Amino acid sequence: MSKVLQISNLHVAIDGKEILKGVNLTVRQGEVHALMGPNGSGKSTLSYALAGHPSYEVTEGSATLDGQDLLALDADERAKAGLFLAFQYPTSIPGVTVANFLRHAVSNVRNPDRKEGEELISMREFRKELREQMDVLGMDPEFARRYLNEGFSGGEKKRAEVLQLAMLRPAFAILDETDSGLDIDAVRVVSEGVNKVAEREKTGVLVITHYQRILNYIKPSFVHILFGGRIVEEGGPELVTLLEEQGYDWVRSKYPDAAKDEDELEQQQNSPSGQLTF
Ligand SMILES: Nc1ncnc2c1ncn2[C@@H]1O[C@H](COP(=O)(O)OP(=O)(O)OP(=O)(O)O)[C@@H](O)[C@H]1O
Ligand SMILES: [Mg+2]
Repeated sequence: MSKVLQISNLHVAIDGKEILKGVNLTVRQGEVHALMGPNGSGKSTLSYALAGHPSYEVTEGSATLDGQDLLALDADERAKAGLFLAFQYPTSIPGVTVANFLRHAVSNVRNPDRKEGEELISMREFRKELREQMDVLGMDPEFARRYLNEGFSGGEKKRAEVLQLAMLRPAFAILDETDSGLDIDAVRVVSEGVNKVAEREKTGVLVITHYQRILNYIKPSFVHILFGGRIVEEGGPELVTLLEEQGYDWVRSKYPDAAKDEDELEQQQNSPSGQLTF
């Protein structure tokens, strides 16, 4: 049976300042959704809050994965429950190789009862699978020996995120600007990698993006526009075309209250305190 990721009336605050003001979003397994919205509208805030980042405080509302309260779970338990997040700015882990990181992550997610120090999945099986997935993504096998994200180019970081997705086989994946920094060919390769996993695993995918290009490959059936901390418009792929052609001016005039909140967020973003990394 297919699972459901349900976000209801989600309010999220950072340092006491409300950024998300009641987000409703339902993604079923096997569906592809796109989340678009101007800079600072709260897209990454949504993914951090769902990931369980401690700076992002959920003040109201709920998020469930197949009825299970995600917000009550630790970050690693959320991954075990089947949620995967590819962040806009992946962090590097010096001293931990891609292969080592993935072997641990895969062992934990596939065997949720595993305790630290217990046996990992077999090296042979893991290596074979890793090689196959890297091949799909057009990655040099040597890459697996490098420290995770340490000195990776923008495009390499994004490929490494999709490699994690391919290895972890989650029920739901949120991809935050996975297209940013990828060259034209890489967008296609990475998208095809995502599609392959999504089709095989019936993954429900939420693609956060500013541009149509990635959505030409990872084709959404549902498109949501986040503006001023809430979803103001929902539709099909025609919304992407509309935004590409006209930008956000029409959204601004159609939703004046949200536009006020959006202006406030923008001012905050431009202030020196409005920046923090994961
Ligand atoms: N950790 C943080 N500390 C302070 N302010 C934050 C933090 N994270 C987000 N914000 C603020 O919350 C607002 C929403 O940011 P968010 O990163 O969610 O936007 P976004 O929609 O992902 O934008 P972009 O398209 O530029 O990635 C912005 O005003 C931002 O400055
Ligand atoms: Mg963002």
